[in-house]
Amino acid sequence: MENMIAFIRGIPPAESFPKEKLVECARSAILDHGDQILQYAGSAGYDPLRQWIADKHHTDLDGVILGQGSLQLLDFYIHSNLMPGDLVFVEQPTYDRTLTLFKRAGMNVKGFNLTNGVIDLGEVERSLKGGSIPKAFYVIADFQNPSGALMPLEHRQELLGLAEQYGFLIIEDGPYRHLRYTGEPMPTFHEQDNNHVLHMSSFSKMISPGLRVGYMVGTKGMISLIRQYAEDSCINSSHLNQAVVFEFISNGWLEDHIGSLITLYRSRLNAMLDSLEAYIGDKGEWLEPQGGFFAGLTLNENLSIPDEKTCKAVGLSLSNSQGFFLNGGEKFLRLPFCALNPEEIRTGIQRLASLL
Ligand SMILES: Cc1ncc(COP(=O)(O)O)c(C=O)c1O
Repeated sequence: MENMIAFIRGIPPAESFPKEKLVECARSAILDHGDQILQYAGSAGYDPLRQWIADKHHTDLDGVILGQGSLQLLDFYIHSNLMPGDLVFVEQPTYDRTLTLFKRAGMNVKGFNLTNGVIDLGEVERSLKGGSIPKAFYVIADFQNPSGALMPLEHRQELLGLAEQYGFLIIEDGPYRHLRYTGEPMPTFHEQDNNHVLHMSSFSKMISPGLRVGYMVGTKGMISLIRQYAEDSCINSSHLNQAVVFEFISNGWLEDHIGSLITLYRSRLNAMLDSLEAYIGDKGEWLEPQGGFFAGLTLNENLSIPDEKTCKAVGLSLSNSQGFFLNGGEKFLRLPFCALNPEEIRTGIQRLASLL
């Protein structure tokens, strides 16, 4: 079908890329700093950008590492700071690629179900009391991928309290945090306690994923192990790309750019929520995300997700959502809304509803 509508990947739309500005940034980065950034360089990344991130997170340079996207850094963290067989906790559902990294490295992964957007902290505490103490708990507190959930402030505080009491790390993945369309920002885990938190984020959703510039902020000990592992794995990540991002920031363009993304995406979120209400109605449940890229739809028990062939016949493409779960997830659909315009979103949800 010609106008296939795909609710598959969490990607930004091409029209969001600030191409002219990036050309300017690349030009000045290369002409002004080419001797350094075109050379092999330090494995922790381009220092001016590291320092900018360090200042934002009230830490110093040694607490920050840059990588080719935050996912690469997560992989480096797992291999340098954890051991096969280590226990790690995740929300369920969670980001599928993180699950893949944990499983590939032989981690013992335990999931805590998100029900109406929250995990049961009583269940977490019972697990801890029963002796199941993880090395790390991976969370996406702000506009979760894939459900759109936002972790309430009291839950952040309570979970952090447990991390402090039982001595585990919170890995806080926050690539969507700055894309908030309604409501007020909540403190990150890292803002509340930088000893028990490894914060990861990236410029993929703030500027462009093709730049592959992500970062981690943690204790010097953790970052130093990741840094050594990075050096042995890839020598260094692209200081050139990191310098382009730094130029973008130094020119004062980041804040306005994020502002324009928020305006663009807010209308897409509204189109998604209106369409779910209008066409899906009581056939399922979803949260009302306040930001990010995704709405998560859970279909009623008596309904099932249409298969690929059936979807294709009406011009619809859906992702296989079971990758977001350790087990279950047959009724769950991740609906990314940022890369489609409001009309496409409405048509897509209408097509989905027609199949249910
Ligand atoms: C929760 C989450 N973490 C990490 C990533 C990967 O980001 P990066 O492009 O920085 O590797 C994504 C990308 O979709 C994501 O949704």
